[in-house]
Parts: sequence; C-alpha cells; structure tokens
Amino acid sequence: MSAFFRNPRAARRSPWAVGLGGKGLGGLATALALLPLSAGCRQDMHDQPKLQPYEASAFFEDGRAVRPRVPGTVRRGAVIGDDHLTTGRVDGELATTFPFEVTAGVLARGQEQFGVYCSPCHDHAGTGQGMIVQRGLKQPSSFHVERLREAAPGYFFDVITNGFGAMYDYSDRIAPEDRWAIVAYVRALQLSQNATLEDVPAAQRVALTGEAGQ
Ligand code: HEC
Repeated sequence: MSAFFRNPRAARRSPWAVGLGGKGLGGLATALALLPLSAGCRQDMHDQPKLQPYEASAFFEDGRAVRPRVPGTVRRGAVIGDDHLTTGRVDGELATTFPFEVTAGVLARGQEQFGVYCSPCHDHAGTGQGMIVQRGLKQPSSFHVERLREAAPGYFFDVITNGFGAMYDYSDRIAPEDRWAIVAYVRALQLSQNATLEDVPAAQRVALTGEAGQ
C-alpha cells in the first residue's frame, strides 16, 4: 500500500483522474478494474490487527490471547498494609473505632453514599423497609434494634465488605473510605432515632421544648 491511495489530494492529481477525462471509456474500465485493489489496500485505525481478551491465539503456549496477571499485581488505588482501613479489623478483632476522624464532611459523604447504595433496601432511616424489600426481598433488621446499636463500627464495615446472608457484598463498588463514611452515617442515624433531650446542646433545646435548658 502506498501513501498515494490514502492522500485525497494526491488522488486528485492522480494519472487516473487524467485518464478518465482524456481516454473516455477505456480509462474508466481500467479505473473500475483497479478499484477493488485499492479497497483491499485500505486499513482503518479502528480495524487493526489485534487480539481480543478472550480470543484464541496460536502465538502463546496456553493458546489464549489474554495474559495471566503477574503474581502479586495490585489493583490501582488499592490500599496496602492498613488493616483497620481496609478490613475493618484491628488485630483480627472487629474495630471499635474509625480509622480516620469523622468530620461533618465525612458524614455528608456517608449520607450521600448511603442514599445510593443502602437505602433501596434499608430505607433512608435504616428501618429495613426500602423499596426492594417492599417488592419482596427479605426484610433486614432495623439498624435501631439494640443488637445493632451496640455493634462495633467494624461490624458494619465487615457487612458492607463481605456481605451478610441475603445481602451481597459491596467491596468492588464502594471504596474503603466511603464504606467507613457510610458506617459513620449509620451511627448518626442510630443516634437520631434514640436520642434524648440531654443529647441536644442546651442552646438548641429551646427549639424542641420551648424552654432553654440549664
Ligand atoms: C439489595 C438490598 C440491600 C442493599 C442494597 C443493602 N442491604 Fe444490607 N441487608 C440486606 C438484607 C436482605 C439483609 C439481611 C440478610 C439476611 O439476614 O440474610 C441485610 C443485612 C444488613 C446488615 C446486617 C444486619 C444484622 O442483622 O446483623 C447490615 C449492617 C447491613 N445490611 C448494612 C447495609 C449497608 C450499610 C448497605 C449499603 C452499603 C446495605 N446494607 C445495602 C439487604 C440489602
């Protein structure tokens, strides 16, 4: 294949164009006869000689185009060596603390992610009556039962990471930091349903009771 066929400007100057004009039908016949040749020559960039992942290949000994992962390959963005952050466990026990400080920003992120990933089943208040449950999925425990109010943060992280009974795991969809943000938000939800007046700062109690606290 020569650059001649690929360059439209070169084609316009081609001797064929002259031939077509000058020699009438004979020239046209020659040009038509040569057309399939020029088409055979053409190769678009989107159609390159390449192997697809699951295609067979005679090139490699195992007959597969796809190459096995190099042992020890680490996925992009993976966090290594921080068990608390990535497994929810400290020395093999479910963590009772968060691996980073829970700020208002973390809670806001947790609320957003909870709305995306958890509320379809656990509903926005965490009582376990989400739309998918209303449509027939097994109803999970409310997050407000005593057992789950007393469960360690690491327990919630573990459920999101590894799944629980009928609930599948979310480790491939929610990054560890976001899982913790969700756990923090679940804790906030639990507090919101079990708070007493004493939990409200004195200055704000007036809005609830009409009387300022001491
Ligand atoms: C597709 C529906 C669904 C989604 C989405 C879902 N869950 Fe669940 N979850 C369940 C079901 C069903 C159970 C109960 C499973 C069982 O008992 O077999 C459960 C159980 C749990 C439990 C364990 C409760 C216990 O009794 O110990 C926790 C904690 C929990 N989910 C948290 C979450 C969080 C956090 C999210 C969001 C990241 C989430 N779930 C997303 C359906 C869901």
